[in-house]
Amino acid sequence: MSKVFFSNSGAEANECAIKAARKYAAAEKGEDYYTVITLKNSFHGRTLTTLAATGQEHYHELFKPLTPGFVSVEAGNFEELVKTAEECKAAAVMMECVQGEGGVVPIGEEYAKKVEAYCKENNIVLIIDEVQTGNGRSGKLYSYMNYGINPDAVSTAKGLAGGLPLGATLLGEKLKDVFAHGDHGSTFGGNPVCCAAAVSVLSRIDDKLLDEVKAKAEYIHKELSGSEGIEDISGMGLMIGIKTAKPAGEVVKTCMENGVLCLTAKDRVRLLPALNIDFDLLKKAVDVIKKAAAN
Ligand SMILES: Cc1ncc(COP(=O)(O)O)c(C=O)c1O
Repeated sequence: MSKVFFSNSGAEANECAIKAARKYAAAEKGEDYYTVITLKNSFHGRTLTTLAATGQEHYHELFKPLTPGFVSVEAGNFEELVKTAEECKAAAVMMECVQGEGGVVPIGEEYAKKVEAYCKENNIVLIIDEVQTGNGRSGKLYSYMNYGINPDAVSTAKGLAGGLPLGATLLGEKLKDVFAHGDHGSTFGGNPVCCAAAVSVLSRIDDKLLDEVKAKAEYIHKELSGSEGIEDISGMGLMIGIKTAKPAGEVVKTCMENGVLCLTAKDRVRLLPALNIDFDLLKKAVDVIKKAAAN
């Protein structure tokens, strides 16, 4: 990654990546190359443009018309993506490596690599949304590193400044010079307070912390697999989705009543613990989750 633009949220980080891709594609291929392909079940934010990018109809319903130029395809169906890219004159493909709001579903290395190779061959911009998966959560600095791919743009936010509002759009070689002065900007983006928090967070995401993230994830998987009322566990690193026999909402409620904050993602219980949670606390939390899921 060669350059970074700082904003205030994940949605804004995605808006910047989309603008960069559209400007690049229009200059390289012509103004009718503006469509961004995203995946069904994705989540990219709540502004009108990032809602359009979000491949879940129920988020769109009350807010139409949305920004045009977005189409979503089934995750994992590479042939559909290629056909759509040809038909719609794609400017970019934008996706999460693990669909967070979509049920904590990893898209898989094979599919990610195929999409990357196709984008490279056809000069289509590849944007990876690391808003939820980034900053060490996956066990690597960014989740795409687990798949060995090289995107042209990466958006991130959430944990980046440890709870203060900061979004970042990282632009690689292809896009680094795409914006001219005045093409993009933000009053509060890159403010010193939030950036100081990000410097502190990033200085702590070292190999030791990432190894701990992997060890904690392994512990959660080992403890919960086969436990009463738990049917399946998905995710990557400390981003974990649990399919429970009981409705996920019920399990989340019981967890909260017993001091563990978690949330749902589709029909799963979603865990996004602090990466530096200590093991004693993690063990207590896992016990609460086990009891909440059991009948
Ligand atoms: C993958 C992904 N992208 C984008 C967003 C939007 O981020 P923000 O709420 O900071 O605008 C989210 C928020 O949940 C997200 O999970």
